[in-house]
Amino acid sequence: MKGVTIYDIAKELGVSPATVSRALSGSDKVKEETRRKIAETAKRLNYTPNYLARSLKKKQSYTIALIISDVTNPFFTNVARGVEDTASRFGFNTIFCNTDEDPDKERVYVDLMLKKMVDGLVVSSCGDGRTLLPLKEKGMPVVLVDRKVGKFHWDCVVGDSEGGAYTLTRHLIEVHGHKEIAVLAGPLTISTSAERIAGYKRALIEFGLPFRSELVTAGYYKEDFGYRIAKDFLSGEKRPQACFAGNNFIAIGVVRAAQEHGLRIPEDLALVTFDDLELASLLFPFFTVAKQPAYTMGSLATQLLLERIGGEKIKENREVVLKPEIIIRRSCGCEPGKQVLSG
Ligand code: RIB
Repeated sequence: MKGVTIYDIAKELGVSPATVSRALSGSDKVKEETRRKIAETAKRLNYTPNYLARSLKKKQSYTIALIISDVTNPFFTNVARGVEDTASRFGFNTIFCNTDEDPDKERVYVDLMLKKMVDGLVVSSCGDGRTLLPLKEKGMPVVLVDRKVGKFHWDCVVGDSEGGAYTLTRHLIEVHGHKEIAVLAGPLTISTSAERIAGYKRALIEFGLPFRSELVTAGYYKEDFGYRIAKDFLSGEKRPQACFAGNNFIAIGVVRAAQEHGLRIPEDLALVTFDDLELASLLFPFFTVAKQPAYTMGSLATQLLLERIGGEKIKENREVVLKPEIIIRRSCGCEPGKQVLSG
């Protein structure tokens, strides 16, 4: 008999699975009335998230693995926190694997986790899918987080990279009148990089601006990539007016290059990016940013995984897309003081 999932509760109430996940995990980000309705519906539908009871019959390690690509990035630290909090709440341990954006390392971890006979994996992959083939072949429960991987139709919980990039670019064009906007993206093999370029392109087209490939550079989500490319385009005669950095670390590299050229952000170069540096922003609110709900991404991905590990017969492959919070600060050229737009 198919058990009730958070997805069923979400459908019944017409709210997002992320809201159900937050309400059931006691998050304070859910309105009291909504929390009450979710609790009542969960009770009425006899939702029992006790995965241990349902899975006692078969051998379980009560351990899941999380594969992320840069443990030093606060975005992934928050994803990992959401995964581990949720797994431990339901009696599972979590093994963390950091691939450092290296597909060879990812493959080593995939083979190791199969040997360790974990019950399932949450994966933010840095590869093009080949590293994940053994998981498919072995029928291992997997939920993708943050990044989709083309050929695999597993459940996935991702951020709306295209929508966030569109909103940031539209802000630079519509509010600050910029037309020459450089993009420094992550690897094109990664879904978030390609989606961010697509959102940037959609905003240009909407405002009748040409998409100029010489302003778009794909590289990797690291500070030295941002620094190296920005050094080039800041030393040329035709400097862009603005830059959309694919993530926080690339943005830091751009700021370092600008400082070396004696240029000011935003006066000489406006800058927007993804993934807030929350602690830094508390002390020095500077970056205009698309802030992804990383903790919820990790927590929801884990709940979807535990439902599959618990033996729920779920036919559909579930895809949840979470909107980023667009926080407008100084780096785009706006006056100090935080404004928030919808992603
Ligand atoms: O910081 C790494 C980036 O890659 C993040 O924006 C995240 O979305 C991931 O895809």
